Amino acid sequence: MCIILAIETSCDETGVAIVKNRHILSNIVASQIDIHRRYGGVVPEVASRQHLEVINICLEQAFTESQLSWEEIDGIAVTVAPGLMGSLLVGLTTAKTLAMIHNKPLLGIHHLEGHIYASYLSDPQLEPPFLCLLVSGGHTSLIAVRDCGDYTLLGNTRDDAVGEAFDKTARLLGLGYPGGPAIDRAAAAGNPFAYSLPEGKVSHPDGGYYAYEFSFSGLKTAVSRLVKQLEAQGELPVNDLAASFQETVARSLSERTIACALEYNLNPIVVGGGVAANRTLREKLQQKGQEKGLTIHFPPMKLCTDNAAMIACAGVQHYQRGQYSSLTLSATSRLPL
Ligand code: KG4
Ligand code: ZN
Repeated sequence: MCIILAIETSCDETGVAIVKNRHILSNIVASQIDIHRRYGGVVPEVASRQHLEVINICLEQAFTESQLSWEEIDGIAVTVAPGLMGSLLVGLTTAKTLAMIHNKPLLGIHHLEGHIYASYLSDPQLEPPFLCLLVSGGHTSLIAVRDCGDYTLLGNTRDDAVGEAFDKTARLLGLGYPGGPAIDRAAAAGNPFAYSLPEGKVSHPDGGYYAYEFSFSGLKTAVSRLVKQLEAQGELPVNDLAASFQETVARSLSERTIACALEYNLNPIVVGGGVAANRTLREKLQQKGQEKGLTIHFPPMKLCTDNAAMIACAGVQHYQRGQYSSLTLSATSRLPL
């Protein structure tokens, strides 16, 4: 049994959580979405200042909600990479200070490890090996997870991350920020087969296509062209465009993920990251997985986007293996898993 307190400040959500093994005792997320909305995206300097403003309040709330005291905490997990440097530093400095004051082990966590383990919080039985489809604002990857720390990258995006593609496409359609949930909502009222859009295959130098690589910049350009053309004709069927975009993305992600799981003999498939909240992706993967006898795990909606509970859950894995970090640990804005 172990109880981990975690801090997540890699982007625009200030998260503090306390997790006992795979059970959430408190999960505080102070979202900055309303602050960044007026700029149409995350402003790094504003994000780090806002983390500073609220981090201590979030810590207090996490203890109040869990009704625990510092004596009961076994270790402090914190996101150290990748992310916005100023934002990461607020969390890391706070975690180091608390580790020193309360004499607790520090556990530096890669943000993507948090997304990988988010599904553990709703499934006490889930264990590697499994295939992880990681779909967030910064990443689109297929990862073979054979053990904690044993990760093999099997597929990746060559350009935009899928969440980025949602955000940019939403901007083209005038749907605002953050784009993913806005497209998801608009798509619910649209026809997913109204427009045929390119799936973004990556050519292999020897001919054919890479089976598990992704590309989303061509899709975004195709939507941009279509928007200009339709606007010139005096109409912009936003819901149909959102639905067609979402259908194309969900189809390419789910088909390649299922094929990858079958080739590498990895079952179940675990999905993580903000785009895991997408309704069409959830439906398509479940349906295609069922057809092939594969089990698909999605985190609960609230745990798809950034939060500290998933970082705490990854922290539990590290703590149980004695993988503690030094107090000289430093933050890194870009770091492969
Ligand atoms: O994992 P996350 O919170 O942050 C990163 O680590 O990047 O993911 C944020 C991304 C954003 O691009 C957002 O638009 C997207 O996840 N997102 C969604 C949905 N909810 C959030 N994309 C599609 N459909 C959604 N329902
Ligand atoms: Zn994330």
